[in-house]
Amino acid sequence: MLFFIDTANLDQIKEAKDLGILDGVTTNPSLMAKEGITGKNNILKHYKNICKLVDNDVSAEVIALDFKNMIREGQELADLDENIVVKVPMTIDGIKAINWFTEHSIRTNCTLVFSAGQAILAAKAGATYLSPFVGRLDDTSWDGMALIAEISDIYEKQLYDTMILAASIRTSLHIVQAAKANADVVTCPLSAILGLFNHPLTDIGLAKFLADHNKSNG
Ligand code: E4P
Repeated sequence: MLFFIDTANLDQIKEAKDLGILDGVTTNPSLMAKEGITGKNNILKHYKNICKLVDNDVSAEVIALDFKNMIREGQELADLDENIVVKVPMTIDGIKAINWFTEHSIRTNCTLVFSAGQAILAAKAGATYLSPFVGRLDDTSWDGMALIAEISDIYEKQLYDTMILAASIRTSLHIVQAAKANADVVTCPLSAILGLFNHPLTDIGLAKFLADHNKSNG
């Protein structure tokens, strides 16, 4: 399972990259706004800065809701860097746009996915990545991880190439569950990645090793 970080914060991207386990970055308009990145030129410049930091896929989302402008924005984003993946919402125009991008060899990430039916449409259109939002489903008492497993089952049976990117990850446990549910990629906040390191027995064991070493070495 590939590890993406879900942020537009350059420091956090760098910290995750320095761990040596980072395979890519996802952003969305809310994450860009959180970093105070506003205005078209600044947004495009920020995507370029992220691409300079990581030599991996970077999902950059279109803002337009209509087919024509999705194509215009998507082409502009894709021209920024070869690692840009154009993120397109799961709508009728979005699916038409994904189909168009696929025909023109531009890679896509279909976002805001909440059902298996939507996952089938995105795969049919040739999406490179599919982003089902696990946490937002959990927030509404639907089982987000069950959706990942259901889509994985369908994609395997139908031999679809689209990669399942478990998104809207809230916890370290979500990461483990995404791996069990057969996600191809998980995109998560830095805190969820760092949480994977934690276990009290590791800390206790390390302290004992050090104490024993110090006792016998004076
Ligand atoms: C990533 O691609 C998604 O936009 C993101 O994971 C959504 O996460 P959230 O539900 O925490 O906003």
